[in-house]
This record gives sequence, C-alpha cells and structure tokens, in this order.
Amino acid sequence: MINEKVNKAFNEQIQKEMYSAYLYLSMATQFYADGLEGISQWLRSQALEELTHAMKFFDHITERDGRVELEAIEKPPSEWDSPVSAFKDALKHEEYITGEINNLVDLTEKEKDYASKTLLQWFVDEQVEEEGSVSKVLQELEMVKESPHGLLMVDKELGGRTIAAEQEEEE
Ligand SMILES: [Fe+2]
Ligand SMILES: [Fe+2]
Repeated sequence: MINEKVNKAFNEQIQKEMYSAYLYLSMATQFYADGLEGISQWLRSQALEELTHAMKFFDHITERDGRVELEAIEKPPSEWDSPVSAFKDALKHEEYITGEINNLVDLTEKEKDYASKTLLQWFVDEQVEEEGSVSKVLQELEMVKESPHGLLMVDKELGGRTIAAEQEEEE
C-alpha cells in the first residue's frame, strides 16, 4: 500500500501536471490564433504529454490501493506578448516542477516508500528532457526575435518535430 503522506503529495502533483497541461493549452490556442500553427502544435503535444504525467501518478496511486483526491485546477494566464515570453514562462514553470519532483523524492526517502521513489526516478529523467527541450525552443526563438521570416522558419520546424514525436509514440 502507498504511504499516506506520499499519496497526498502525489494528489497535489496530479493537480500540478494538469495545470501544466492547462498552461500549454492556453499558449497553444493563442499562437494558433496568431497564425503560428507549428508553435501551437508543439505546445498542444506538450499539453498531451502533461496529461500522461498526471495519469502516471493516478495509476500508481490506484494500483497501490491508495485513493486519488482531485484538487481544483487554477486558471492559467491567457495572453503572452510574444512566443519568447511564453517560452520564458514555460521554462520557469518546468524549473518549478523539477523542484517539486525533487521534493517528492525527499519525501519518499523519508517515508521509506521505495516503490514511489522508483516511479519518481522516471520523472527526474523526464524533467531533464522537458527543461532541455523548452530551453532549446526558447534559444531558437530568441535568435530570430527581430526577424518575421526567421520566426516562420522556427514555426515550420516545430510543427514538423511534433509530427515526428507523435509517430514515435504510435510505434
Ligand atoms: Fe509534467
Ligand atoms: Fe512538463
């Protein structure tokens, strides 16, 4: 059975992963409206990934006879000045999530819930990827900040990358 304190903290993490999905979806809808469909696609895929993160915690809790209690999800911002400012927010958010995952690792050690600690190892690795991919996009966007042509090229590239990622998932 899952440790009670870990169960509670994982419930809160489900909410944070759902909020991450909300945040990326909110960004996706703005940039779609702005005509940046590739960036929008990339963010939409990112949102779907966040939902799978929430489900990993959900499944772990239920498999170990815990009980999921869903928390309210707060409203995300709905407007960004530019793709650069959105990806800056995304990076800040991912760094925050990484910190929360690390806190969860500490808790599982303290509570000697090693099965939960093993689950978190996946998230520790995933956060390295998440921060890396967001900061790579941010870097590209910063490079083309003054160039509409450059921005369209990054947009096209990001749309393509999403399709590749989704094909991988299907395999
Ligand atoms: Fe996540
Ligand atoms: Fe994330």
